[in-house]
Amino acid sequence: MGDSISQNSRYTLSTVSFIALFLLSLFIFSKRTLEPSVSIYQQSFPLIKSQVQVHSSDSDPTFPDPNPPESSTHHRISPSLSVSQADELHPPSNSTSIDVQLQLPAPPSNSTSIDDGAVDNGEEKRQMCDLYTGTWVKDEEYPIYQPGSCPFVDEAFDCQSNGRRDSDYLRWRWKPHGCDLPRFNATDFLERLRGKRLMLIGDSMNRNQFESILCLLHEGLANKSKMYEIHGHKITKGRGYFVFKFEDYDCTVEFVRSHFLVKEGVRINAQGNSNPILSIDKIDKSSARWKRADILVFNTGHWWVHGKTARGINYYKEGDYIYPKFDAVEAYRRALKTWAKWIEKNVKPGKKLVFYRGYSSAHFRGGDWNSGGSCNGETEPVLKGAILDNYPLKMKIVEEVIQEMKVPVILLNVTRLTNFRKDGHPSIYGKRLIEGKKPSTRRQDCSHWCLPGVPDAWNELIYATLFFNKQF
Ligand SMILES: *[C@@H]1O[C@H](CO)[C@@H](O)[C@H](O)[C@H]1NC(C)=O
Ligand SMILES: *[C@@H]1O[C@H](CO)[C@@H](O)[C@H](O)[C@H]1NC(C)=O
Ligand SMILES: *[C@@H]1O[C@H](CO)[C@@H](O)[C@H](O)[C@H]1NC(C)=O
Ligand SMILES: *[C@@H]1O[C@H](CO)[C@@H](O)[C@H](O)[C@H]1NC(C)=O
Ligand SMILES: *[C@@H]1O[C@H](CO)[C@@H](O)[C@H](O)[C@H]1NC(C)=O
Repeated sequence: MGDSISQNSRYTLSTVSFIALFLLSLFIFSKRTLEPSVSIYQQSFPLIKSQVQVHSSDSDPTFPDPNPPESSTHHRISPSLSVSQADELHPPSNSTSIDVQLQLPAPPSNSTSIDDGAVDNGEEKRQMCDLYTGTWVKDEEYPIYQPGSCPFVDEAFDCQSNGRRDSDYLRWRWKPHGCDLPRFNATDFLERLRGKRLMLIGDSMNRNQFESILCLLHEGLANKSKMYEIHGHKITKGRGYFVFKFEDYDCTVEFVRSHFLVKEGVRINAQGNSNPILSIDKIDKSSARWKRADILVFNTGHWWVHGKTARGINYYKEGDYIYPKFDAVEAYRRALKTWAKWIEKNVKPGKKLVFYRGYSSAHFRGGDWNSGGSCNGETEPVLKGAILDNYPLKMKIVEEVIQEMKVPVILLNVTRLTNFRKDGHPSIYGKRLIEGKKPSTRRQDCSHWCLPGVPDAWNELIYATLFFNKQF
């Protein structure tokens, strides 16, 4: 009798659990499909642990679907591209203290019990914090590495060594409104990279970010000679591939140059001259290298707004056809779709982690990069105004493409963070000063960033993503 009662209640219990599980799946499913507003938060922190646990039958973690919402109403195309990111300072060194600082909407109920306590409420809350909505705050503990101390910063970004005297621009950290990022911990970052290959793929803005991450990780090494470029190459803009090995962690951090992510080529015209073309339906040749990485960070954008690419005359190719004239924005969309297709084919969710770093803003006054625009003398970020809301059309395209993908891609949505930082560019300090000469103000770099500087924050955002995501 007692047995059958307990069996009965066990039966009831398991039925109830099953129904609860089913309802939760329904809830998550409908939340994802029907409520884009919720996904704003998921996007900014797109890790949905409970989903992972509920839906995956094997032990492979699944990276979340960013499911970005339709974006805002600003449609400006900015002439430059890169991203900035946020640094947190008071950041708690462990998750417990993070929870305390979060004041965010409660997560869906009862997910905790379903995945066996693997997800605590704090994590759920963190997922709801938009890391990309915030502001820069002054922090005397920054920068994370000292100017001139990092051997991987190439001349173009080494502003202090090139004569830049003001240093306030080094002391800002990004502060999301809803939460704090974890304090950057190079040792911990390296532990998370153990046995893995992290690869940055894109243009010089990604090289800027690559040099930053090398410097950040270098700081964490007890023996600095246990990190080296495997072929002994020094970083210069002339070379398109670097592999840095961290011996004690059996991991690499690599850079692969790919301006467009799709395939560049040449055509020979009737006069026998060769002209560049871009095959927007074929992935870049360097993709053979991309396959080897475990964590990939892509970007492209900068090169789509200049010269031939912008004009689009006898330049874009699909199949065997070269368009006499083609719109650069549409070409960008198609190129990104080609990239997306490659990702879907070559990335098994849960095995690899894919980031796309959003557009980084330039700050040229009175002209453009090639027409006398300048940004020298800027020593403070912009802290308010319409400029902060700039969000280029290309970013909306990125969001659309990512949203349609089956393989989750995490958007490092750093555009807004960069909007603030008119003070962070090399301006006239992108070259070694010649003794006794004043730096030329003619060609200024108001697109890339000084190091230490804004790209450190982008890498802190990658770290935050790994930190909150227990699988990597
Ligand atoms: C990225 O940031 C922009 C500007 O802050 C915002 O309008 C957009 O919705 C964000 N995109 C996503 C997918 O969160
Ligand atoms: C988190 O930090 C607090 C105070 O700093 C400490 O007491 C606690 O042991 C830490 N927890 C973990 C899991 O490291
Ligand atoms: C589920 O959530 C409700 C309210 O949100 C709570 O009362 C209940 O105890 C929870 N059940 C479990 C099993 O955690
Ligand atoms: C950084 O991470 C390492 C490895 O996880 C840990 O031992 C160390 O205590 C951390 N340092 C700080 C300051 O939190
Ligand atoms: C640092 O590493 C190098 C290369 O492995 C080694 O030769 C050297 O002895 C190490 N130095 C210390 C202080 O451990």
